[in-house]
Amino acid sequence: MTLRVGVIGTGMIGQDHIRRLTEVLSGVEVVGVTDIDQARAAAAAPGGAEVFANPSALISSSNVQAVVICSWGPAHEEQLLAAIAAGKPVFCEKPLVTSEAAALRVMEAEAAHGRRLVQVGFMRRFDADYRRLKAVIDGGRLGAPLMFHSVHRNASVPGGLYTSDMPLNDTLVHDADISRWLLSDEVAGVEVRVPRRSSRGGELRDPVFVLLHMASGALVDVEISVNIAYGYDIRGEVSCETGVAALPNRPATVISDANGIRQAIPEDWRERFIEAYDQEFREWILAASHGTATGPSTWDGYAATLVADAALRAAFSNSFEAVKMIAKPGLYGPPAALAAE
Ligand SMILES: NC(=O)c1ccc[n+]([C@@H]2O[C@H](COP(=O)([O-])OP(=O)(O)OC[C@H]3O[C@@H](n4cnc5c(N)ncnc54)[C@H](O)[C@@H]3O)[C@@H](O)[C@H]2O)c1
Repeated sequence: MTLRVGVIGTGMIGQDHIRRLTEVLSGVEVVGVTDIDQARAAAAAPGGAEVFANPSALISSSNVQAVVICSWGPAHEEQLLAAIAAGKPVFCEKPLVTSEAAALRVMEAEAAHGRRLVQVGFMRRFDADYRRLKAVIDGGRLGAPLMFHSVHRNASVPGGLYTSDMPLNDTLVHDADISRWLLSDEVAGVEVRVPRRSSRGGELRDPVFVLLHMASGALVDVEISVNIAYGYDIRGEVSCETGVAALPNRPATVISDANGIRQAIPEDWRERFIEAYDQEFREWILAASHGTATGPSTWDGYAATLVADAALRAAFSNSFEAVKMIAKPGLYGPPAALAAE
């Protein structure tokens, strides 16, 4: 069976996902696209795909069985609610939504549907290195995880569009999600410290240093540097009771020349996580073909939204800000502590 998919938002990541759905993966066909920039949608549409006038026309089309949302964060809620109302499985790029109230509305709609329909684009969970790291921690041979050091470095971010809040409300969501997932824990509170500002970022609050207090008492420190010039560098190391487990350096050709011995660093997230994005869509296609969703859920999107909100408060208060979650709805499985057992 081939899953017929409609893509909303044909910008940078929308085009990359259309490429993978069209040229890399099987069992799927992009039958429709839409964007507020209709010319961009038309240019991105694969042969034979319809260019819809707006997201609601795409979602309600009987030819579209499942929806991929790659528009800007503030547009996600309306598109998610429309897809859920139509009973269609939906892949939504992070952030799920941009406020707690919106996340609660999406969870309510999904609960009313009675079955999971939403997968959120936290692709790190599908990365083979992160999966091996999680298997070591879950295996328990190093004892309980006590600290996680997470490093998130971008060479640069698009000028103009990227605001001072974005390291905390757009970038941090990846580290928040991977911390919750790796440690099978929830974030109970956040502190933010802003070191000396990089002269490369202009008015941008960059870098930032975030401390996540996990419910178990474990601590996660996150370095976010979004203008570090040399490349896209993601690192992670978990300190446990009897040992340490870390992401490996990615294999890359070792070049020796007059400048020394060195290995290339990925330019951006598309290169570093290319296999992870492929795998997240493989698993999404499988679940969506059965009319449901697996992987990172609306609950996970809600949790990341709360962490981002708390981090923004913490950046201004310069003190600990609590993350207060509702009880986990049954649709999303047992609470983290039980799930880890
Ligand atoms: N998972 C990841 O690693 C990752 C990486 C990059 C971006 N993202 C996320 O993907 C989303 C898109 O990011 P991008 O970098 O492709 O941005 P972009 O600006 O390149 O593209 C977004 C596109 O969505 C369109 N759009 C916006 N609102 C719309 C609406 N209401 N209806 C229809 N089209 C609309 C815009 O016209 C634009 O073409 C964001 O939520 C971003 O955070 C995730």
